[in-house]
Amino acid sequence: MVRKIGILTSGGDAPGMNAAIRAVTRVALNNGIEMVGIHDGYKGLLEGNFEILQKNSVSDILDRGGTKLGSARLPEFKEKPVRDKCIENLVQNGIEALVVIGGDGSYRGALELTKQGINCIGLPGTIDNDISGTDYTIGFDTALHTCVEAVDKLRDTSSSHHRCSIVEVMGNHCGDLALYTAICCGAEMVITPETGYDEIEVLERLHYLDQTVNKSHAIIIVTEKIVDVEGLAKKVSQNTGFSGRATVLGHIQRGGSPTPNDRVLASRMGEKAVELLMDGIGGHCVGIIDNQITSLPIDEALQRPNTSRKKMYRLFENLM
Ligand code: F6P
Repeated sequence: MVRKIGILTSGGDAPGMNAAIRAVTRVALNNGIEMVGIHDGYKGLLEGNFEILQKNSVSDILDRGGTKLGSARLPEFKEKPVRDKCIENLVQNGIEALVVIGGDGSYRGALELTKQGINCIGLPGTIDNDISGTDYTIGFDTALHTCVEAVDKLRDTSSSHHRCSIVEVMGNHCGDLALYTAICCGAEMVITPETGYDEIEVLERLHYLDQTVNKSHAIIIVTEKIVDVEGLAKKVSQNTGFSGRATVLGHIQRGGSPTPNDRVLASRMGEKAVELLMDGIGGHCVGIIDNQITSLPIDEALQRPNTSRKKMYRLFENLM
């Protein structure tokens, strides 16, 4: 039976990571397992930046965004000597297993450590919702709330000024944040890696909305890394009846108090992580599928194609 578990957060932070840290810590301690917090992700693992966690170490963090443990990206973790040093630090501190909260890069690290003898469990912590093996990631719901709040405000001012607001949201290479925001806000268009981007089509559609549908405003939600939204806004002003304005929501999407959904999700997943480690299972990641908490091997999850959102795109179209 596992006696001491380490926990770290890695990659971009996400609201709800703290709720997951709290859940793993409390569930482990309630089962007689010691807990160690590792600061600044794999970097802290390499440097031995550890902290013993008691129940009150995770008090007052459930409602806080960010991560109490700090996060960092450590590309060198791919190198075996770096991982060997990390394993040495774990062994020296009596840490027998690890919970890693982060995205797919963090999962790859967890898998490598498991292969080297330390059972690791991955929890999906990212606002991007881009991890296979789960319907939703911890932080996605909160980021979606932030986006919706912002776009609702932009819509007010856009309709007063006959404007087209082009709003860039995060998501890395995943369009979920844009798609769900577009559905929640009744956007006129959504541009994601899945929809692709055709400038002429966008301008023609705006012309139609202005001239034929008599829309007072138009909202376009765009996933980051697809198009220069400032440039597109200028073209909208030059080529359609709307004046174009671009808004990049940026890192505000990563902060804020986690929503109740994210708090519950993180708590359920945290409990599952400890249960798996108590059963001697490593190299798995936790997910939620059809509202059931599940787990599957990390290598299987990483090979799975991302869940198709075809039905959600169809819904968006049907709501036009
Ligand atoms: O993965 C989370 C995320 O916020 C992505 O949506 C975004 O592309 C990236 O991280 C930004 O990274 P950084 O905080 O390092 O600028």
